Amino acid sequence: MKAMVMEALGTDNLRLKELPDPTPGPGQVLVRLRAASLNFRDVLALRGGYGSRQKQAGLIPLSDGAGEVVEVGAGVRRFKAGDRVVNTFFPGWLSGPPDERFLQQDLGGMEDGVACELRVFSEDAVLPIPASMSFLEAATLPCAAVTAWNAVRAHAATGPEHVVLTQGSGGVALFALQFARAAGARVIAISSTAERLARLGELGAQHGINYREDAEWGKAARKLTAGRGVDLVVETAGAATLKQSIRAARLGGMIAMIGMVSGPTAEVNLPLVAMGSLRVHGIAVGNREHLEQVLAACATNAIRPVIDRSFPLADLGAALKHVESGQQFGKVCVEMG
Ligand SMILES: NC(=O)c1ccc[n+]([C@@H]2O[C@H](COP(=O)([O-])OP(=O)(O)OC[C@H]3O[C@@H](n4cnc5c(N)ncnc54)[C@H](OP(=O)(O)O)[C@@H]3O)[C@@H](O)[C@H]2O)c1
Repeated sequence: MKAMVMEALGTDNLRLKELPDPTPGPGQVLVRLRAASLNFRDVLALRGGYGSRQKQAGLIPLSDGAGEVVEVGAGVRRFKAGDRVVNTFFPGWLSGPPDERFLQQDLGGMEDGVACELRVFSEDAVLPIPASMSFLEAATLPCAAVTAWNAVRAHAATGPEHVVLTQGSGGVALFALQFARAAGARVIAISSTAERLARLGELGAQHGINYREDAEWGKAARKLTAGRGVDLVVETAGAATLKQSIRAARLGGMIAMIGMVSGPTAEVNLPLVAMGSLRVHGIAVGNREHLEQVLAACATNAIRPVIDRSFPLADLGAALKHVESGQQFGKVCVEMG
């Protein structure tokens, strides 16, 4: 089988290689991968950003894949050859709260990922894809959609009475917008350009704020809620946004701390957090149960993942550079042909 292998750190050191076909052991399924999606974390992994917590030379990147089962190992009960499946982000985290043992077992980081034609998974680490969804669409879900779901639904229990603020046009932000709208909530989206704000409006955001033109967008968001503030901020930009996110949040509101596209460290005005009774909640993707809920929510509400662009597997380096550029609107993917 063909696989993209990181020979040394850096996107220019990715090589398409011929590797032996894997075979499924007991309880495992062999999947012919058809598509995979990229996340900002893959850019970090190619830079060695996870240090000793990641495999270095020889890593097969990417965590999110979809394909069809071609063979099952002894004792497999849930799947048969021909089933369409998508993998979970943390193969061992099935349900319940985060657990250190399972969080260290991530694909495309500690373990080889899905930028390859064939991969073996535990039958517990894949789920069926609804008939309405393509391989490409399903491959966008394991990291970005599960993270957004965890923030918007699992932790914030968002409903029609709530206002949610999303940041930018990345994968997590767009899923958060779609899930919040499907739950009946009002969405305020911030973005860098008028054109992107218009597209966010087409996806259902009722209000848009250009954060480049309005540095005090937190106050603007508060005004849009008649001074009350938003119930949930889906914080994906990090250093550049946290201060305004705190301003935007209502008394007792929640900031779901997810990402750091603009940098990893931020100064926090502690009295505003304390006196605002804010809940700052870290999110580490999510478990298999969350992915099951995401798959059901997408099928029931006809939610279509927003795909910016798809590259052939051999062009993974170019795909990673595209994600690094921040020019994408939605998910960037690769297809195995
Ligand atoms: N904790 C977790 O479990 C978890 C899971 C998934 C991802 N993440 C993290 O979450 C972040 C987002 O991931 P992603 O894959 O969705 O990212 P992405 O696709 O790379 O998102 C990039 C987008 O961020 C927006 N952006 C950049 N600077 C901004 C700023 N100052 N204010 C507001 N928006 C800004 C831009 O949109 P506009 O041009 O529209 O502004 C840009 O298109 C990353 O840091 C990622 O590592 C964390």
